[in-house]
Amino acid sequence: MTGSDRARLSVSLVDVHKHQEADFLMLAREFAALLLTKGYGRSEMIRDEARARRFYAVRHWTDAAAAEACHADPEMQALMARLYQLARVTHVVNGVHRPDPKRLMLDDRRARIETDRRTGFERRLQKASRTEDERRGGRERRIGPRRLRDRGGEVDLVAAARRARENADAAFSKFKVGAALETADGTVVTGCNIENATYGLTICAERVAMFKALSEGHRLFTRVAIVADTPAPTPPCGACRQILWEFGGNLEVTLANLTDLKGTHQLKDLLPLPFDARLL
Ligand code: THU
Repeated sequence: MTGSDRARLSVSLVDVHKHQEADFLMLAREFAALLLTKGYGRSEMIRDEARARRFYAVRHWTDAAAAEACHADPEMQALMARLYQLARVTHVVNGVHRPDPKRLMLDDRRARIETDRRTGFERRLQKASRTEDERRGGRERRIGPRRLRDRGGEVDLVAAARRARENADAAFSKFKVGAALETADGTVVTGCNIENATYGLTICAERVAMFKALSEGHRLFTRVAIVADTPAPTPPCGACRQILWEFGGNLEVTLANLTDLKGTHQLKDLLPLPFDARLL
């Protein structure tokens, strides 16, 4: 979203008909350019890698009036008419309608997480002391689409971590851990610890979850839950804090055992003075 709190967001699911993808992409570019030029807002077309020819059309309206003006604009209507010939469009989020108060509360919470997350995550994109060319990776560093959170806060992440823990392979320590990571689009990715005969190649539940999520293309995260069968909370080890921070930013970290919650922390408090890509 833009900085203004008058900004509005709409999201549509777009399933492009077979053999129409090239035309559709051209049209989407045309639509995005016109939206910008006319000052209605900005538009993104995000491909769903898990589903052929599916896209998420995300429109960031300058404000509700801009959205209305766009819908009434014959030039924009003509583009939409062409779009409907190339794809099936399902409106998922209509941010132009007045949201209900419960929804606003959730949005507020998401906005706070988003701000915090950026302090951690966007350091990858930030210009530190070096120029873009000097920095390793440069703009290639951000891989994969940005995703939109739409179900944040409603998922029982601890229950997911408890279930994941049952798959732990902790033959040597007998210490089973489960983790569940929530991505920005509300997907939950779980992990458990996996040990091996050399011991040293053991990997913790949290890193399994994070690497699984990254390998599936997720790049934005909101929360992680960590579960072990101990009366005291099991906080993430140092290596996991580093990886969670570098890829997840200032996550909300909930610790729990099989029956109780054991506390919630912000990752920045668990990893003060972090080393990360901003310093490279
Ligand atoms: N472990 C985790 O999976 N996560 C933690 O946060 C702490 C430790 C695992 C690693 C190893 O398999 C076992 O717990 C004992 O250290």
